[in-house]
Amino acid sequence: MYRERTFMDAILHGIAPTNEQIAAYLNAFHRRMPGITSEIMLGLRTNDGRTSYDVVADRIAGAQPSNVLDIGCGDGELLAAMHARLPAAALAGIDLSADELALAAMRAGCEADLRLASAAALPFPDAAFAAVAAHLVFMLIPQVDAALREVYRVLAPGGTFAFLLPRPPKQQSNLTTLLGTLTHKVTIRYPDFTPFAIGDRALFERFGIADLLVGAGFTALPSFDDFEVHATFDGETLWKAISGRYVLGSLDDELTGELRSIVHSAAANGPFEYRESLRLVAIVR
Ligand SMILES: C[S@@+](CC[C@H](N)C(=O)[O-])C[C@H]1O[C@@H](n2cnc3c(N)ncnc32)[C@H](O)[C@@H]1O
Repeated sequence: MYRERTFMDAILHGIAPTNEQIAAYLNAFHRRMPGITSEIMLGLRTNDGRTSYDVVADRIAGAQPSNVLDIGCGDGELLAAMHARLPAAALAGIDLSADELALAAMRAGCEADLRLASAAALPFPDAAFAAVAAHLVFMLIPQVDAALREVYRVLAPGGTFAFLLPRPPKQQSNLTTLLGTLTHKVTIRYPDFTPFAIGDRALFERFGIADLLVGAGFTALPSFDDFEVHATFDGETLWKAISGRYVLGSLDDELTGELRSIVHSAAANGPFEYRESLRLVAIVR
């Protein structure tokens, strides 16, 4: 937990962390829990039974690219989903976590060119890829404009960029109510704590996303596909999904214990309906 501390100290006291603190936090979090994102997200399905990895991979496969770069590839779940659909395509992945990349490298049947790198400085030449994908990464990047310029640079003309973002839900759900209760619990101890978005809040709105893409050089109109993934969770699975989130999963032992018992009581009277709102953005260069 040590390297997660500086970032957490800042946000618990209402201070914006530096970009270096954010990168160190993400690195330490993924060292402690490599593979946690896919473990949670694979348990959630769309209404038509797909995972969110399927949604991104289907969009990329529809463009039939000869090669694809996955930005923030984590443990390689999206790479595997793309390999299943595009067995002849050359795949590459970058991530700033060596621990996640080590898991991605162990995946059978997925021989991707994996590199330790930042999304803001991609180690590839101009126009190197026919498609670029990302699954739940761009909302974490403080220099998102630089990262999107890098996507534009490495994408060949006519290439497709498809990336998945979390989306603020239109209506209160069990999950938003629970997250509100947990946040309130944290503010009792740390009154200056406010729920913190690590990356650029412009990514929460369609207009903000479109503006950022124009700023990066894209001239086509993006498409937006808003959907939900959901499942019913028992108390322990629900706790895994909550403690696998950034910030709420990085508190001290005492607060963690308090949040854990709130989470368990939320599922005490029957399974908890867990619902995440997501948005797939796609654009052609
Ligand atoms: C929420 S996880 C998603 C992992 C994977 N895409 C998935 O959905 O299973 C975010 C991933 O993005 C990586 N990441 C965050 N910021 C990054 C950056 N600026 N450059 C490269 N990777 C980054 C993290 O290390 C982590 O593996």
